[in-house]
Amino acid sequence: MLTTDCKFLENELMDVVRMFKNRPTSILHSFRFSDGVFYNDFTVEGEVYAFKDEGQVCDEIIYKRLERRFAKLALYRILSEKYGEKMPWGALTGIRPTKLAYTELQSGKDFRELFEKMQVSKENIRLVEDILKAQEGIYSKAFGADLFVSIPFCPTKCAYCSFITAPIEKTQHFLDGYLQCLEKELASVQPLCGSLRSAYIGGGTPFVLNETDLERVLKATAPLIKGGVEYTVEAGRPDVFTDGKLQMLKDYGVTRICINPQTFSNETLEKIGRKHTVEDIYRAFELSEKYGFIINLDLIAGLTDERTETFIDGVKKAVQTGADNITVHCLSLKSGAKMKEELSYIENDFVADMVAASREILSSAGYQPYYMYRQKYQAGNHENVGWTKAGKACVYNVDVMEETTDNIAVGANAVSKRVFSGGARIERFASQKDLRTYMEKVDETIENRLKFFGKSE
Ligand SMILES: C[S@@+](CC[C@H](N)C(=O)[O-])C[C@H]1O[C@@H](n2cnc3c(N)ncnc32)[C@H](O)[C@@H]1O
Ligand code: SF4
Repeated sequence: MLTTDCKFLENELMDVVRMFKNRPTSILHSFRFSDGVFYNDFTVEGEVYAFKDEGQVCDEIIYKRLERRFAKLALYRILSEKYGEKMPWGALTGIRPTKLAYTELQSGKDFRELFEKMQVSKENIRLVEDILKAQEGIYSKAFGADLFVSIPFCPTKCAYCSFITAPIEKTQHFLDGYLQCLEKELASVQPLCGSLRSAYIGGGTPFVLNETDLERVLKATAPLIKGGVEYTVEAGRPDVFTDGKLQMLKDYGVTRICINPQTFSNETLEKIGRKHTVEDIYRAFELSEKYGFIINLDLIAGLTDERTETFIDGVKKAVQTGADNITVHCLSLKSGAKMKEELSYIENDFVADMVAASREILSSAGYQPYYMYRQKYQAGNHENVGWTKAGKACVYNVDVMEETTDNIAVGANAVSKRVFSGGARIERFASQKDLRTYMEKVDETIENRLKFFGKSE
């Protein structure tokens, strides 16, 4: 449906097309660069459009960057006009708008100029400004790395979720072997964890483990954690919280936990196969409160046919709990999610209102947006935003989204990252996704990860 003579642009132009619900049947694109001018010609369903942009090119990287921007903006303009639709992030398709803003600022430019040119909404430019402000004092290219420990098990699989995680009932027989591998991996990364900025045990649902198994993970992680380091356990689903598990987290120095409602509607919880109730959310919160953790609640806008009022009610209820962090996701359905595979998903048309309302409610309640990212296929082309009360922002989330620090990631489907030249170049090292293969190859993974981080001969 899209043909271009500029191969490196094909996927990015398709990303622009995918933002629109209505899509043309044919797009032809041709590109020419001459005397500092970028010529982008499009033929969309027989209609011809010609664009000319000037830009200063000093090397191949800048040349490609500018061509990407000009071509995407040109196509965005055509489609936006043709279908009468504007996107919240305009022609920007990348998943890290704040990283782009930092790149502009660090090269002495005002990111607002670029964002305006790319037709990002006023509200989103403001959001990025607020996030950059909230990251002052956290955003750092100066030192350290972050640790991630993957627990890819859950009580059941939620209908919207495409993470590589499996219901514990079906994977129980792997658990002991998996924990042995984690113990080995955690011991092996000790030489890499000299100056950790944060640690994160995530999933999946770490609290699906029973107390004995959870303690194995915490015990194996403990030698890597120095006092005072931010330490999150994404405990997860409210139905698996116990006082014993929470006490254990406290004993092992965990500072932050996630209790994830997703919604405060029992009807929606039932539809998405969460197998817990709103009562369970409050119970988990009450159990956790006395330990003094920083508490994060995750919500999702656009679940099933949920109406704006239901979502707003959920945001208000999340605020009423007094949680320190509230993360507002917008539904993003990828392959692997039951809702998408079974075509039971009805597109929710109210996500824009939900996003606007969540911003209003959370900022009025004193929360600041402190990190954000976008995903493919995200409802209404919106974003996920982490909100925090002053002084409670999660360093791990900022580091991962801004890609300023190395990430040492262990477990199945864990992706380690090495950051070079302050983020100008990133290299990744992924372990196996499938549990059985991960366990078979763990020794190889350990050796290769150490090499990846330059720690073995
Ligand atoms: C890695 S998941 C783990 C959370 C934990 N297992 C739980 O569900 O409570 C982190 C968060 O991503 C969000 N999430 C997962 N799937 C999503 C999707 N398809 N669209 C939008 N957000 C999603 C949810 O808010 C979830 O809490
Ligand atoms: S949303 Fe959380 S609990 Fe549900 S399947 Fe995904 S990772 Fe597991």
